[in-house]
Amino acid sequence: SKDSFVRIVEVGPRDGLQNEPKTVPSDVKISLIDRLSDTGLKTIEVTSFVSPKWVPQMGDNAAVFSGIKRKAGISYPVLIPNVKGLEAALKVEGIEEIAVFASASDGFSKKNVNCTAEEGVQRIKGVIDAAKNHNLRIRGYVSCVVGCPYDGPVHPSSVTKVSEALLEMGCYEISLGDTIGVGTKQTVHAMIKDLLSITTPDKLAIHCHDTYGQALVNICTALELGIRVVDSSVSGLGGCPYAKGATGNASTEDVVYMLNGMGMNNGIDLKKLVEAGNYISEALGKPTASRVNKALYQK
Ligand code: HMG
Ligand code: MG
Repeated sequence: SKDSFVRIVEVGPRDGLQNEPKTVPSDVKISLIDRLSDTGLKTIEVTSFVSPKWVPQMGDNAAVFSGIKRKAGISYPVLIPNVKGLEAALKVEGIEEIAVFASASDGFSKKNVNCTAEEGVQRIKGVIDAAKNHNLRIRGYVSCVVGCPYDGPVHPSSVTKVSEALLEMGCYEISLGDTIGVGTKQTVHAMIKDLLSITTPDKLAIHCHDTYGQALVNICTALELGIRVVDSSVSGLGGCPYAKGATGNASTEDVVYMLNGMGMNNGIDLKKLVEAGNYISEALGKPTASRVNKALYQK
């Protein structure tokens, strides 16, 4: 039924590859995204228009976006930190959706975007105001929704406050980022419950890094509370350069396997997804982090 449809936002090409120590050639990124476009995914985050001094790996953003074969019915958002990034993205043909990002904690905000959480929200306001006349869909991320690598545990009210501000500015959805994967069923539940006092589950997405092996449980907790959008990363790629030690997101393959088991439609061809995962694992020269891939296909 419609209620059980879960939209997966594939963040591997951005969240995954931004953290790779070795430069990944643009044609490899393009080929990965084209393979992902054939799996049934409806949203694929392509790249980010952040400062190449801060994240060199995303410095080929325009070339990658221009190189992919965009398919009808798929959204290809790009991550934008400031007006400068928006202006660069607007020069690229075909960008229809952007994602802005804030933090629920000051410590991470300062390391990640060089300003406090509150200043970060104001910077985003500038981006959204500048984006208004360009018909862009705007997704919002809030990082450190249960814990911060610098400030420790984060209170749900901080997450709700930042999320509410981003929703009021016009973000169509807030993706709740457990940036360092410290959340557990209980802390994630409490955080989402607090948010549900100001919004509805259809405005929320869950974005779990799997550092402590809790990502699937935490995603499941979000599903139980009515959230139907899940961010994940093919092959479990990823991490954030400004959150040391954080591993990749929940792997998309494992999320799809879990959803299939729960009878929740997602429209994704698991075999094709695993093939896309194998492609990027081979290109990076490292084993997949997807348990489902290992169990089913790495004989
Ligand atoms: P800053 O150094 O304070 O800013 O960085 P600045 O304005 O002084 O700029 C510094 C230099 O970068 C200047 O160049 C600018 O022109 C240039 P210079 O004058 O020295 O030659 N610059 C840019 N170049 C290209 N595109 C731009 C841009 N902006 C400035 N957009 C800034 C502030 C926000 C730019 C920087 O801190 C930055 O880029 N941070 C991004 C860090 C990042 O990408 N982190 C990972 C993504 S977030 C994430 O992964 C979490 C998430 O997955 C959710 C979760 O898991 O929680 C979303
Ligand atoms: Mg992330």
